[in-house]
Amino acid sequence: MRAAYASSSKPDAPLSALTVDDRLDPDPPDGWVTVDVRASSLNHHEIWSLRGVGLPADRLPMILGCDAAGVDPEGNEVVLHSVVPDPKDPRGYSLLSERHPGTLAERVAVPAGNLVAKPAGMSFLDAACVPTAWLTAYHMLVTRGRVADADAVLVQGAGGGVSTAAVVLAVALGKRVYATSREQWKRDRVAELGATAVAPGARLPERVNMVVESVGAPTFEHSMKSARPGARIVVCGATGGHLATVDLRRVFGMQLDILGSSMGTAEELAELLTLMAERDLRPVIDSTYGFSAVADAFARLHSGEVFGKVAIDHLH
Ligand SMILES: NC(=O)c1ccc[n+]([C@@H]2O[C@H](COP(=O)([O-])OP(=O)(O)OC[C@H]3O[C@@H](n4cnc5c(N)ncnc54)[C@H](OP(=O)(O)O)[C@@H]3O)[C@@H](O)[C@H]2O)c1
Repeated sequence: MRAAYASSSKPDAPLSALTVDDRLDPDPPDGWVTVDVRASSLNHHEIWSLRGVGLPADRLPMILGCDAAGVDPEGNEVVLHSVVPDPKDPRGYSLLSERHPGTLAERVAVPAGNLVAKPAGMSFLDAACVPTAWLTAYHMLVTRGRVADADAVLVQGAGGGVSTAAVVLAVALGKRVYATSREQWKRDRVAELGATAVAPGARLPERVNMVVESVGAPTFEHSMKSARPGARIVVCGATGGHLATVDLRRVFGMQLDILGSSMGTAEELAELLTLMAERDLRPVIDSTYGFSAVADAFARLHSGEVFGKVAIDHLH
């Protein structure tokens, strides 16, 4: 079957570690099922993997991809939950493409418990954008950040998949949402989603109860300064650098919670898909590529010029 995989690790030139070629079909162990992939989407995770972050050389070659929607052996339309229980991993789990082959292929095997029903009215492409970025945003907002108790939310780095999902979800949940971006065109786009767009580091009209932080070092000080007493700063990533400076006086003085967040559960993914179907929420899709142009899709993601998700149509 055709697949997109990491054939080497290139810390400084990740795209050169990507190979698109034939790989063997999945050979699922007991309790796993093989899904025909109809659509997938890219995440920054793939770029980290090609750099060798979280994907050591002894696991190569590795089919990339965490996200997919497709059809299971019974003909059900399903969305894949990417989190696979894994006692060997210090986190207790791994994501598809870390220890088990990922979704950027014609077929992928997952534990049967990782299949979630795709809402009937949702396209395969939209559904394939949800399992990582949207689930992460949902878990950050609802579970870790207790957004139900918040009225104002700050989302840093407005262009990414997680950030656009967080903006759409927080707006849908009735929150006042502020979003930063370094680029004016992204600030214009995020304003169209219902957020108040601000330049990085700018003073907000009010302090917020919750921050969705995925940029890291470049924005963390602003996240801390924008937080009101008792606020939650929820961190899922560090695209711009993971060594941030924290003024501890602000942490204890303002009684801030700095919370880590990783993915979400299969139950949360089902809840999120139901919420999206009920409220007619659609993922923000930057661009869609046929699988035959998957390398171009990676180049687009790596360019940083994206707003929302880069989706892959596996039927083309
Ligand atoms: N923990 C988890 O479960 C989980 C799940 C999903 C993603 N993640 C992580 O979350 C992060 C976001 O992923 P993503 O795929 O949504 O998007 P992404 O491609 O990493 O981009 C997110 C945003 O980061 C900003 N950014 C990038 N480099 C920057 C820099 N040097 N300085 C300031 N801002 C910068 C950009 O904002 P502007 O251009 O708008 O300024 C961009 O729109 C990644 O690090 C990813 O690995 C973690």
